[in-house]
Amino acid sequence: MRRATRLVPLSLLLIILAACGERPATPPATAAAAPSDLTPWQVEHGIGPVTAPITLGPVDAKEAHEGKEVFDQKCGACHKPNERYVGPALGGVVERRTAEYVMNMALNPAEMIRRHPEAKKLFATYLVEMPNQGLTPEQARRVVEYLGTLPAPPAPPAK
Ligand code: HEC
Repeated sequence: MRRATRLVPLSLLLIILAACGERPATPPATAAAAPSDLTPWQVEHGIGPVTAPITLGPVDAKEAHEGKEVFDQKCGACHKPNERYVGPALGGVVERRTAEYVMNMALNPAEMIRRHPEAKKLFATYLVEMPNQGLTPEQARRVVEYLGTLPAPPAPPAK
């Protein structure tokens, strides 16, 4: 009698363990990239006023120059092209993020940090909340143009 009562739970445990082992692991990318309240567009392009696709053509030198002026005034205190500073290095950012994402981060940082998984991750690392610098969408677009002229740092930026 005693033996039987002990064996039943043990075999149940084995069944449970076997079931767990068979279940395919959830791909971590899906879990991180698709939180329930974001649309696929928002995951890819960020959350904010930019909701239509931006096409990046060859760099427009005049726009890039204007973008650099905005950047130097409103972003350069925290971001450098090639090294981690108050915020992440932004050289090559347009290769790792979409133009829309960069613009939405610039135009709507508080909501991005609160809701977007990538921005949340960066916030968890940098522990400074990127402020809204009051750019117009046009200025943000020019900053993207300028950022497009900055090559990615030789090594992946320290996050
Ligand atoms: C007070 C410092 C500060 C200023 C000013 C600032 N940022 Fe940031 N930025 C940050 C920090 C810190 C992060 C990382 C996320 C966080 O902690 O908020 C960040 C993140 C970003 C990201 C995301 C990078 C990535 O790899 O996803 C972009 C893009 C960005 N900033 C662009 C800008 C632009 C453009 C401006 C100027 C309009 C600007 N930032 C001004 C501090 C700043």
